[in-house]
Amino acid sequence: MESEISEIFGHLGKLIEAHRDMGLEPPPLSDEALRYLENAESGINTIRAKEAKVPYTPDGAPDRGEQPHSLEALRAAIGECKRCKLHKNRTSLVFGEGSPRAELVFVGEGPGQEEDMSGRPFVGEAGRLLTKIIENGMRLARREVYICNVVKCRPPGNRDPVRDEIEACIPFLQQQLRIIGPKVICSLGRVAAQCLIGPGFKITEERGTWRSYEETPLMPTYHPAYLLRYPSAKQQVWEDIKKVMGHLGLEVKKNG
Ligand code: URA
Repeated sequence: MESEISEIFGHLGKLIEAHRDMGLEPPPLSDEALRYLENAESGINTIRAKEAKVPYTPDGAPDRGEQPHSLEALRAAIGECKRCKLHKNRTSLVFGEGSPRAELVFVGEGPGQEEDMSGRPFVGEAGRLLTKIIENGMRLARREVYICNVVKCRPPGNRDPVRDEIEACIPFLQQQLRIIGPKVICSLGRVAAQCLIGPGFKITEERGTWRSYEETPLMPTYHPAYLLRYPSAKQQVWEDIKKVMGHLGLEVKKNG
């Protein structure tokens, strides 16, 4: 029962996020509902994002001297992670997958239910859309790129990860990016963009503009889950992806 309620509030948080992304005022919530959301840790960051209480960890990386030099070594160093509370409900830790020499890394927010079950990133409905973008749009194989997330364990009810969870996990994303050393990073959605760029990043206004993460060019675009809710945003994402392709020297099909 508790987990169902938490899931409902997770969805409510996402709905409010969608309102905000469209530039609409979210529906007003009573103090009681806000308190519940806070206790359930379900997307309160989203609801209060206007207060700029968004998580951002500029440098949570451990001492460089101790850093693993391969993705396998990094995965081994993470172990059966219990560094944050997300471990309690996870089935699998979703580390990431793809080529360790990828020129392009996609960074999402955190695993959903299907990812948690399978241990693989972006394999649910949103993941299938991302795969289409990679395979049909970019004409690359999924295994040629690298796909990972800010947090490696599923937040209950697909709520946004909260600050302490991001702080515990982001050093691993930072190390993944350093080990791979891609030519381009493409962040998917608000949470990933804010974690890699900064807390003030506004996805609706600033997606599609080149940024950088530790000197690597970064293209922030919408999350494929957003495209499932708002298919009309697909054209904007395609424009962003074409910029990424241009940077990688990939041929962009005419009328594509
Ligand atoms: N959404 C994400 O942000 N990451 C996944 O792996 C799946 C869905």
